[in-house]
Amino acid sequence: MSSLEVLLSSDRIQARIRELGAQIDSDYPQGPVYLVGILKGACFFLSDLARAMNTPARLEFVGISSYGKGKSTSGEVRLTKDLDVSVEGQDVIVVEDIVDSGVTLSYLMQVFQQRRPKSLRIATLLDKPERRQRPVHVDYVGFKIPDEFVVGFGLDYAEDYRNLKDICILAAASASSENRGATEPVAAAQGGSPD
Ligand code: IMP
Ligand code: MG
Repeated sequence: MSSLEVLLSSDRIQARIRELGAQIDSDYPQGPVYLVGILKGACFFLSDLARAMNTPARLEFVGISSYGKGKSTSGEVRLTKDLDVSVEGQDVIVVEDIVDSGVTLSYLMQVFQQRRPKSLRIATLLDKPERRQRPVHVDYVGFKIPDEFVVGFGLDYAEDYRNLKDICILAAASASSENRGATEPVAAAQGGSPD
């Protein structure tokens, strides 16, 4: 049986998103800023972040699949849904739920760089820096969190828990997580279901 322990309450999440929105406003006073959300995990973060900004934003989404090789964390990433528009010459912020190994974002940044945006940055709600395998420069970070498997506010375990208002540690999942690369949730998160 799994149990949930609140790590970040909805109030804390919303307060931090308001701060990030204000920071983005001051970095991009003109707009429009293209917010590119990575489905599905970033959906709530993107929608709240967009509304925390005064700078005009345009919303785009991409879909990806990650395939882990066995229990290793070095997954292959594939674009399953591309942008609907060209972002050439535009200010783009890629919006992600969580940066873990960095595999997903290092791949996506390469893809988006080729689209020749005016600027390209990353906003992530959560960052697990201990788990990084590929270097990723993240410009806007909501919270740095410890190496625990978390769900809620868009984040899933096998598609469950996304609509929790708080971000919670999935306790049963982390109980056996001395070796995080080998835990079930990571396998599930990297095992081909859309993020
Ligand atoms: P990365 O490519 O390893 O950085 O993986 C990022 C993706 O893995 C995220 O978009 C999530 O879908 C998934 N992921 C990583 N850690 C967690 C977690 O603690 N909970 C839920 N999903 C996670
Ligand atoms: Mg996921």
